[in-house]
Amino acid sequence: MTDVWKDVPLAPPDMILQLVVDYKNDTDPKKVNLGVGAYRDEQGKPWVLPSVHQAIDRLQSDPDWDHEYLTLAGYKPFLEPSARLLFGKDSAALKEKRISTNQMISGSGAIHIASEILMKYYKFRSDRKTIYVSDPTWPNHYPMLELAGLQPETYNYYHPETFSLDFDGFKKSLSDAPNGSIFLMHACAHNPSGVDPTKDQWKELVKVFKEKEHFAFFDSAYQGFASGNPDEDAFAVRLFESEHVPMLVCQSFAKNTGLYGERIGALHFVLEDAELAEKVHSQVNTQMRAEISTCPAFGARVVTLLLTDPEIHKQWLEDIKTMSGRIMEMRRGLYDLLVNKYKTPGSWEHILKQIGMFSFLGLNREQCDRLTNEGHIYLVKTSRISVAGLNPGNLDHVASWIDRVVRGSKM
Ligand code: LMR
Repeated sequence: MTDVWKDVPLAPPDMILQLVVDYKNDTDPKKVNLGVGAYRDEQGKPWVLPSVHQAIDRLQSDPDWDHEYLTLAGYKPFLEPSARLLFGKDSAALKEKRISTNQMISGSGAIHIASEILMKYYKFRSDRKTIYVSDPTWPNHYPMLELAGLQPETYNYYHPETFSLDFDGFKKSLSDAPNGSIFLMHACAHNPSGVDPTKDQWKELVKVFKEKEHFAFFDSAYQGFASGNPDEDAFAVRLFESEHVPMLVCQSFAKNTGLYGERIGALHFVLEDAELAEKVHSQVNTQMRAEISTCPAFGARVVTLLLTDPEIHKQWLEDIKTMSGRIMEMRRGLYDLLVNKYKTPGSWEHILKQIGMFSFLGLNREQCDRLTNEGHIYLVKTSRISVAGLNPGNLDHVASWIDRVVRGSKM
């Protein structure tokens, strides 16, 4: 009996989620959690959006609310509105019913199922099942893609010296890749760098995609967090759709609804015609049945109300502005303390320029370790901080510690 498990090794901890555990175990009253990308309010607490409260109240007073299984595609009233949020109400593909949409176990579930479907049906032009990911990217992209059998390779994306987009490098990677390659891109608010292409740069990139017949695999986890406006943040997705680039989008509602633990998302394939969309949709249904049977219902019902009920939708757009606005305020606050109060050596403009939930501070591993071990500040060891974890109560503590580790000064 004991023998059958004797070869199981201990798996290494997850570099992001382990920070949540380490933070919880720290008893220091000054501890700060800048690790996982989850929004926190001014008191450092998780925030249940007012629009979500409204939607839940509405659901609870609905006499027809039940707990039946959903269809294989998910909660039907959720599907079209979630596609509309990404592609826009004027999307030709949406009107022509060329988009196959399935509810997913958040964005991660979508990445997993998308990878499985690509492995089964995508016409790779060589034996290698390559998918290109940005350097750097969300670390969990690698195991998720590899689990399905895809082989991730990196494309140029980021200049660490200047904290900015390596646009020429990105274009070169696109041009150098064999025709028909798959590129995974962050739809907005790149995680971890906080650096996105500008609209003009996206327009140049889309041209290369068309020339090279590449496939666009979008991960959209932060719609609304880059600019505060979900339409604005869908620019790249809408551009690629309107330019007929073959594509799919993995959509997460974790961050922009605060429903992290409810695991709500969708997977959208944009196809040539409605008939093909129906075929792909049927294959995704089959894959879902084999993997999880049917999706959870509660969060999908809540999100549907956020997207479709005029009054609740208005509140939701306000809530997104509240979250993204507070993050921008914290960026300014941190910058101001480092530059004006502490006069910390180095340039800190990048904290203001980066967008979305994250900032890449540009500190080395040893400096990050000191922030955690001595300052009780939890961050990913690549020096990514979740700016949403900052608040007026901890900002000075964090700035003073960044200053200390940059100067290399002791306690
Ligand atoms: C993050 O990057 O912190 C989030 O996407 C949460 C996660 O699951 O890693």
